[in-house]
Amino acid sequence: MNPNKALWEKGDFTRIAQSMRESGEALVADLGMTKGLKVLDLGCGDGTTALPAARLGADVLGVDIARNLVEAGNRRARELGLTNCRFQEGDATHLDGLKDRTFDLVMSIFGAMFAPKPFDVAREMVRVTRPGGRIVMGNWIPGDPTLVAQLLKISAAYSPTPPEGFVSPMTWGIEKDVIERFAAAGVPEGRIAFAQATYTFNFPGPPAEFVTVFRTYYGPTMNAFEAADKSGRVADLQRQLEDLFKAQNRSSRKDLTSIPATFLRVTVAL
Ligand SMILES: C[S@@+](CC[C@H](N)C(=O)[O-])C[C@H]1O[C@@H](n2cnc3c(N)ncnc32)[C@H](O)[C@@H]1O
Repeated sequence: MNPNKALWEKGDFTRIAQSMRESGEALVADLGMTKGLKVLDLGCGDGTTALPAARLGADVLGVDIARNLVEAGNRRARELGLTNCRFQEGDATHLDGLKDRTFDLVMSIFGAMFAPKPFDVAREMVRVTRPGGRIVMGNWIPGDPTLVAQLLKISAAYSPTPPEGFVSPMTWGIEKDVIERFAAAGVPEGRIAFAQATYTFNFPGPPAEFVTVFRTYYGPTMNAFEAADKSGRVADLQRQLEDLFKAQNRSSRKDLTSIPATFLRVTVAL
């Protein structure tokens, strides 16, 4: 099986996404959704950004490589009575079945960054966006001191060495790499804007419980624990993650963990 698909179907990202809903809504509210705007949400998960976009009237297609997340997204859309939002399986590296110049807005919030072959991903996002349309990406930043960059760094340190030729998803958080990828897709640098922004994770429980959610449901952390188990380092990994989550927590309530995480917002005007 495609290892990229296997990684995201292994866990259940809906359990993490539940802590990201407020920030997803806030981000979408800032993207100028209008009735009938044709939106593609790439690497949409269970709809953290797709569903708020549809609630604001956009006509939304969510595409994700993980079958379980596509099913969860369609279920949530049905429960919310949103007929202008549907989810389907697809791969950001080759968006088969999606026609050229279709969407007014292609958004990908911590989604397409996890696909392999970043040059193919940039080319596909540009291909399906109409002239005059926009691409908006949210990408975690390598070396950033906040939660997700650190979590992925720690997880990678315990995981098996990636295969030859592997390109780290975190490179989507480096401006010069983003420029190079879109340049190869025919987009001049002047059409790309960068800004740092914040996503806040809100979890109804203490930090150590939030670590357990990642350990149980988040593919990259699950893999790290599996590898740590083989090398007898599970307790070290658990301690490192608990320290990280506690240090990053900004809530003083026992029943709430609230962790802001910095990301790179990329806007491409076509
Ligand atoms: C960190 S989650 C973010 C999900 C969602 N955008 C959100 O903000 O809740 C990454 C998502 O990217 C999806 N993904 C990873 N590789 C992909 C690919 N090649 N094509 C499409 N989706 C992909 C995963 O299945 C997962 O749903």
